Amino acid sequence: MSLHLGDIAPDFTADTQLGPITLHEWKGDKWVVLFSHPADFTPVCTTEMGRFAELEDEFTKRDTKLLGLSVDTVEEHHKWIPDIEQFKGGTKVNYPIIADQDKKVSELYDMIHPGEGDASSVRSVFVIDPAGKIRLMMVYPKSTGRNFDEIIRVIDALQTADSHEAATPADWRPGDKMIVPPTIPTTEARETFNDVDEVYPYLRFTSGRKA
Ligand code: BEZ
Repeated sequence: MSLHLGDIAPDFTADTQLGPITLHEWKGDKWVVLFSHPADFTPVCTTEMGRFAELEDEFTKRDTKLLGLSVDTVEEHHKWIPDIEQFKGGTKVNYPIIADQDKKVSELYDMIHPGEGDASSVRSVFVIDPAGKIRLMMVYPKSTGRNFDEIIRVIDALQTADSHEAATPADWRPGDKMIVPPTIPTTEARETFNDVDEVYPYLRFTSGRKA
């Protein structure tokens, strides 16, 4: 199945090391980062799963739940997690990791890319919003660990852009100016945004919408 931005994230029921979950029910009205990794007991994955564990509070602050996936079993997840926790100085892995040994979810989300070596999942990231829509997809090869600053930055950018009905420029960080959407004429933008700094009629920076 080919998924696109704006699609409702397909629902599924799957086993995790914390018990079975059904995506739509489990997420409720939260944001979700659904991410796959190739295999338990592999080095890059160990660093990534540890990083998600270390950063879980940052995701929680952003109303965001974490949901991992690999094509390993629940038993393998249980055996591997102590290694991750020890590697990260005792940081607990509290988020569920789907045990997708029948590849039901990884095929549903197109996480298996046969050109990437074997039939395990690549490093996919899906950011799903409170309405259940897919808002971002990233796919990394098996050899490259993900950039966690970018995963958090993009959630900040999406949430900020949503609340101001605006966009965000290249390399935007919280506190930086946003972009007035090109669909809004400058005269109208000056009424509804705090400030409008017009570089070109189509490139206008703003600190945000009037309260
Ligand atoms: C890793 O996590 O280290 C890894 C997994 C599969 C292929 C290559 C690297």
